[in-house]
Amino acid sequence: MKGIVFDEFLQMVEANYGLITVDSIITKSDLPSGGVYTTVGTYDFNEMVALVTELSQEIDVPVPDLLHHFGHYLFDSLVKTHPEVVSSYSSPLSLIASIEDHIHVHVKKLYPDAELPTFKILEQTDTQLRLVYTSSRGLYMLAKGLMEKTFEHFGQKVNVDFKLLREDGKEVEFTLKQVG
Ligand code: HEM
Repeated sequence: MKGIVFDEFLQMVEANYGLITVDSIITKSDLPSGGVYTTVGTYDFNEMVALVTELSQEIDVPVPDLLHHFGHYLFDSLVKTHPEVVSSYSSPLSLIASIEDHIHVHVKKLYPDAELPTFKILEQTDTQLRLVYTSSRGLYMLAKGLMEKTFEHFGQKVNVDFKLLREDGKEVEFTLKQVG
């Protein structure tokens, strides 16, 4: 996983729970990197698992809720660091439908060792999108947060339903319905 994701995660923890919590989860996670991340570096995904698990225990919030919240936070950071990726879209559904063939393709050029999920579109209309998220990392709640925030970014509202196609969350079907 890219350092930018770790960086943003720790910034979110600091903003919401303070520097003491950041230090505490880094120490308890016993990380090979020591908890020091550079944006372009690549780190073992297990370090993220350890940090999220420690945070979950420390503040008593379930891991899926934390990932969901982190998705909201991460979207704004991604837009700030890569405004050129988002500016070519005029609607949230067209942006989300283009992650697989455009956005993450661009990301892969910038960071060749990025580990990205795949999104397979099942059905698309002007107001609805059905797609399947697949990733060995099972970060579907992060995806949910990112998708919701994409709508907010365009000043629109959405209902996001999902169905786990695999119990471990590595394959999840999403249904997005634009509201209003
Ligand atoms: C991961 C970039 C939009 C879903 C990532 C990573 C980057 C990235 C750099 C980290 C890869 C790694 O750590 O190796 C971007 C940019 C976007 C964007 C620049 C546009 C502003 C989205 C949106 C979604 C999404 C709208 C909504 C579903 C994900 C997920 C991951 C991810 C779920 C985590 C990896 C996984 O699940 O396997 N993206 N992304 N991305 N992206 Fe995007």
